[in-house]
Amino acid sequence: MSGLSRGAIERLESPLAVRVDLHEEIGSTQERARALARAGAPHGTIVISEVQKGGRGRFGRRWGSPPGGLWLSLVLRPSIPAHLASRITQAAAVGVAKALWEFGVEARIKWPNDLLVVEPGEPEGRKICGILAEASVDNVPAKHPGLGDDDRRPDFVVLGVGVNANLDPEDLNVPDRKVATLRSELGRDVDLTELLDALLSKLGAELERIEDFGAVLDDWRTLNCTLGRLVRVERFGEVLEGRAADLTPQGALLLETPEGALELFEGEVEHLRQEGT
Ligand code: BTN
Repeated sequence: MSGLSRGAIERLESPLAVRVDLHEEIGSTQERARALARAGAPHGTIVISEVQKGGRGRFGRRWGSPPGGLWLSLVLRPSIPAHLASRITQAAAVGVAKALWEFGVEARIKWPNDLLVVEPGEPEGRKICGILAEASVDNVPAKHPGLGDDDRRPDFVVLGVGVNANLDPEDLNVPDRKVATLRSELGRDVDLTELLDALLSKLGAELERIEDFGAVLDDWRTLNCTLGRLVRVERFGEVLEGRAADLTPQGALLLETPEGALELFEGEVEHLRQEGT
């Protein structure tokens, strides 16, 4: 399969790949990782598949996962209180962005954790990677990870990462949105084991400093393409428009609207075209 083998992944000796569950085809690595976590799989279990038939993204959307991409889910058992679990979302975005930069793709983070290739005059950008972090506290999946108001530890977090790597944008079959791939940006294919190595090492570094969240957010600010923009945000069926002013110390998006400032922890952001773009 695609150059990735269990042995090669094990030889990376990553603390995020202590147990490797490798597939040629699966429904969703996310569901498999969740089942393994429920059955007691340790922190650092990685589920990876060449193809996903039922890959899913945020808001229950379909996530096209043909051969050539890097489709994986990690079982994490973080030692942070449940109400801090949402930090994983931004830490993961920073880690994955840094890995993509190492490969020569200047990916930008769209709040909260989409990774885009953005050209001048193209405010929406082209998505190259999606991240899905789902927490489970006491075996009850949190609807809005990170919004818990108690100090329970998350039982586990499943962190799903989908990188459009060695494929053409058309292979992804998403006519409604613009997408990019490593191949479309670099004009060549990459070694998926090397990409995984970079991804796990950058992710590991960001997750390790999650308690120093101010530093993670500073890097998020440096790498983002949302702050300062006029945006439309859809959240729980409500549509809000305003200026994405900053992140709060908790990582919420601070949206300045004509009615006042709002802190958003959840939502789908659309970058609006503004003068000069
Ligand atoms: C998003 O941007 O909507 C998140 C996409 C997450 C996709 C990855 S691919 C590996 C893992 N398995 C899934 O079914 N989804 C995630």
